[in-house]
Amino acid sequence: MVKVPGTTANIGPGFDCLGAALSVYNRFRFSLAESGKLQVKVTGAEADRVKADESNLAYQAFVKFYEKIGQNVPDVVMEISLGVPLARGLGSSATAIVGGLLAGNALAGGPLSQAEVMELAIALEGHPDNVVPALLGGCRLSASVEPQTNKEKSSWQICDIPWHQDIIPVIAIPDFELSTAEARKVLPQEYSRADAIFNGAHLGMLLRGLATGNGDWLRVGMSDRIHQPYRKALIPGYDAVQTAALDAGAWGMVISGAGPTLLALVAAKQAPDVTIAMATAWQQQGITARTATVTLDSQGAVVSE
Ligand code: HSE
Repeated sequence: MVKVPGTTANIGPGFDCLGAALSVYNRFRFSLAESGKLQVKVTGAEADRVKADESNLAYQAFVKFYEKIGQNVPDVVMEISLGVPLARGLGSSATAIVGGLLAGNALAGGPLSQAEVMELAIALEGHPDNVVPALLGGCRLSASVEPQTNKEKSSWQICDIPWHQDIIPVIAIPDFELSTAEARKVLPQEYSRADAIFNGAHLGMLLRGLATGNGDWLRVGMSDRIHQPYRKALIPGYDAVQTAALDAGAWGMVISGAGPTLLALVAAKQAPDVTIAMATAWQQQGITARTATVTLDSQGAVVSE
């Protein structure tokens, strides 16, 4: 069994490089089958929306793992228990990729190291900010390592980002989906120097705010000019929910991953008010949303049995 946490990527200015694992989980069990066709059993909310054939993302990752090690893909029964909402910006695809790769590695006797699994996961997802915290847990910053000579391969350097215990994530998950592909299509190809400087400064400020719990740094550091200004139009009620969260005492509110879930960072004593305010604001726009106070997952993906 592989238990993989959902994630919140970007956290404002950390587009495609910063993400944190949250206390919501998908579970994947791959068992060797005698022979025959792939069997997929999915349980949990939205189970009927998960592909139950070879196009299943966790299964595709499992296949990629066997391609990587140069062995035939064994016949398996795949059981998935869903706890991370689908296509909501909480890293459900990353859980599937990490789940499929780790299940393959476990069944094959562990030929790949964690670093190799991570490189493969990043290549499959296309960006590191969900798969890295899903695999390792905590809040993580990923930076590409530029080859210094033409003999070197490009790779990734990952660092952990300290997250002060007083910072509580509140998530508001609306009852509509937004595909990452759709949310990436609205982004410009190029940005101005002013926007690049803005995001560099704000990401630095955010990381110091996360480490220290300094509310002023968090409040300023959650601003972004790379993706949120373009994506918020895809999320009806964004402005109203943000105003409600800030009025209720949140330091800031951002789009979780590619959306549509919205993430507020708050002090513990404000968390109940912010949770209610975000749900109410969306309800007033005619949108049903589930809100929850979550914690950071520090373990990442866990393989058992
Ligand atoms: N960084 C990605 C995005 C996360 O915002 O498009 C979504 O998977």
